[in-house]
Amino acid sequence: MASGGSIRTAASLIAGAKHIVCFTGAGISAESGIPTFRGTSGIWEKYPPSLFGNIPGLALAFLLFPGKVRNFAFEAIETIVNTKPNPGHEAIAEMEKVGIISSVITQNIDGLHEAAGSKKVLSVHGSIYVFRCRRCGERTDVDKEWLREAARRLRLARSSRFGLIQTLKGLSTKCEKCGGLKRPDVVFFGESLPADVFSVAYEEALKCNAMLVVGTSGLVYPAANLPLVAYKHQAAIIEVNPENSPLSALAAVRLRGTASEILPALLKEISSVLW
Ligand code: OAD
Ligand code: ZN
Repeated sequence: MASGGSIRTAASLIAGAKHIVCFTGAGISAESGIPTFRGTSGIWEKYPPSLFGNIPGLALAFLLFPGKVRNFAFEAIETIVNTKPNPGHEAIAEMEKVGIISSVITQNIDGLHEAAGSKKVLSVHGSIYVFRCRRCGERTDVDKEWLREAARRLRLARSSRFGLIQTLKGLSTKCEKCGGLKRPDVVFFGESLPADVFSVAYEEALKCNAMLVVGTSGLVYPAANLPLVAYKHQAAIIEVNPENSPLSALAAVRLRGTASEILPALLKEISSVLW
């Protein structure tokens, strides 16, 4: 199953480290049914990031093909709200519960780490379950039911610009604090990462002695800097990914397999080394 290092070696590195953090990307949620971004069946193949991955691009897409923007929005919401954590997320939550890892830094917006029971989750690209006031920055949680209803209304929206605007107007909410309009608290290309969350993530990368890097291509900065920061500060990088990535070169151990195969096996092995 594993090559480029064994689960036993990874377990001993983790057992010997004092402060361990986990850094995850879309690959950890692949086995829950959420497609990754890159690759032939990735999200960006169907919805190119030049149009759908940034706000000016989305504005242009809205003018040119509003129906496709509508599909992008409801498909993304529906896919996420209908998924459940997989054994990979569960193993990470268990690692935190028993005191092996101190936090999870995730690039994912799907909330699946929290759903699995992880408590200290640093969502550096935001979350679909949070809205943010455009004016004062106040964040508020939105629940699954609200998102399901939003997806349902978007699915039913007419594919014209007018139809989509009407639906979006119906879904828009105002900030309880200042009356400003809210937007989903997710990061698009060209936008800043949430500074409060990213600074804690950066601290975690600086002080960890081992970093478990799971299911990320490591291509999107500044998030992809975090494993580099950890590596430069002598942390052992353990990569879990069925494929090679640019971060593989940093890894002391590369576990080639899927998150839901490798992480439960790794947890078992760490437990046998530690206890
Ligand atoms: P990518 O789609 O770039 O990479 C997914 C990674 O997961 C690849 O390296 C796959 O080999 C790996 N993978 C696939 N299936 C897996 C599995 N079952 N178990 C473990 N690994 C698996 O996704 P990210 O690296 O998360 O940002 O992408 C980073 C950022 O780019 C995203 O947060 C998003 C995107 O554009 C923004 O939109 C700002
Ligand atoms: Zn406000």
